[in-house]
Amino acid sequence: MDRHTAEPDVDAFPGPNAERWVSFHGEHAAPSEYSHEFVWDLNGGADGPFVTDVDGNVLLDFTCHIGAAPLGYDNGKVLGKLREFDLAEPMKIAGQDMYFGSGPDPAEADFPSSSHLMDRLTDVSSHYGMDTVFLSNSGAEAVENAMKITHNAAPAAKYGYAFEGSFHGRTLGTLSVTRSKDVYTRHYPEIAGIRTVPFCGDRGCSPASCECGFFTGGGSGTGGGSVAGGGSGNGETGGGSGGGGSRLRDALAPEGGHVDPAEIAFMILEPVQGVGGYRFPSEAFMAEVGAVCEEYDVPLVVDEIQSGIGRTGEMWASDHYPIEPDVIASAKALRVGATISRSELFPSEKNRLGSTFGGGDVLASMMGVFTLEAIEEHDLLANATRRGRQAKELLGDGAPDHVVDVRGKGLMLAVEFDTPERRDAVVREALERGLLTLGCGKKTIRLLPPLDSTEREIELGTSIFLEAIEAAGPTATTA
Ligand SMILES: Cc1ncc(COP(=O)(O)O)c(C=O)c1O
Repeated sequence: MDRHTAEPDVDAFPGPNAERWVSFHGEHAAPSEYSHEFVWDLNGGADGPFVTDVDGNVLLDFTCHIGAAPLGYDNGKVLGKLREFDLAEPMKIAGQDMYFGSGPDPAEADFPSSSHLMDRLTDVSSHYGMDTVFLSNSGAEAVENAMKITHNAAPAAKYGYAFEGSFHGRTLGTLSVTRSKDVYTRHYPEIAGIRTVPFCGDRGCSPASCECGFFTGGGSGTGGGSVAGGGSGNGETGGGSGGGGSRLRDALAPEGGHVDPAEIAFMILEPVQGVGGYRFPSEAFMAEVGAVCEEYDVPLVVDEIQSGIGRTGEMWASDHYPIEPDVIASAKALRVGATISRSELFPSEKNRLGSTFGGGDVLASMMGVFTLEAIEEHDLLANATRRGRQAKELLGDGAPDHVVDVRGKGLMLAVEFDTPERRDAVVREALERGLLTLGCGKKTIRLLPPLDSTEREIELGTSIFLEAIEAAGPTATTA
């Protein structure tokens, strides 16, 4: 397959082979919340965003496995390096808790190790003063360890702050700071002391117009965390908290506050909410969160598991906003989990953190390094920005009235619809036309093309998407 000429080509969907695989999978797999009927063929043709399923259908994949395959399929750089690698030992060499290298000198190693991955991660986080990394295996573990190190640094702390609509993982610790769908959290025990404040879902919001209830003294303050759409650009305005206060500031301020800032271990924030609906906050909201954290010396943990590693056209989504994170939790695109911060925030006591396979297997860490190298060598941040702009223009120009909003930064893109039914119908229609997409929030579709997407691929994907909207139109009922 050649991505320069490939086209989506769907015959029967799901085909008979896919049905066989899905039914085999279902025999023993725990029933999960969501899975595609699309069955990737591990040995089938694939290139960039194009991929073949077990029935020979060719799809254009605008999900990148929820960002975990940021360069799409069969990326030349990653594959070329992996093929050169002549592994002498079984691949499962335990990770961060053990040392491993190749050759006499790390500075001249032919193949990068998890130590190199940590080195690269601190390079791309040095503007936040970060110089230390703890590697784990998943996003949830990266967040767990962020919570652990901030608690370790503040032994008297009893509280943590999270935001409405958030998703931070599925372990009990991360579910305790997750505030999106009830299905994730219902009946599970929570760690104590987690407070929640509204998250801004209106990127054009100012303290005076705020409707989510975060800013006090300005807008209607409903506290509902509503998403106000409109416009296809980024549309951020303003900055700073203006004259009014905020729920966060009010809770912490000595004159009225009921939470002693010295007793807060962390504030955890997705700079762009992922699972919650690809919600891009306003500059004013982020400035206020940043200012409150700085004023009261509360460590700001940013969950960049979905938004990081170039997805938004910057290495970190945080880089777009007036905030100074103290800890970054990363994973997905890296293939491993990473908790990144300044050395003084990490415990120095031996055995306080640990993970047998921290950093995944040798290949996982290597792929993280190759991905970071590819982003730098091929200027993929600029590409993501350019191609994201192209996609937003094409989608915004072609969108009918029942598209409530087209938004995004870089290639973290979202189209919001008037009803959940229409959203689901568009996902289905797109799939049948050979475009793989993913829902998020209540009535939004997220689009995550590979960071190295070409102009042709974006044109192709957006035109299929617009056709799918057209086709879904009459079938979608109102909410
Ligand atoms: C923002 C965010 N945080 C945390 C996680 C959890 O990551 P993992 O599934 O690797 O544990 C996810 C996964 O979707 C995520 O999107």
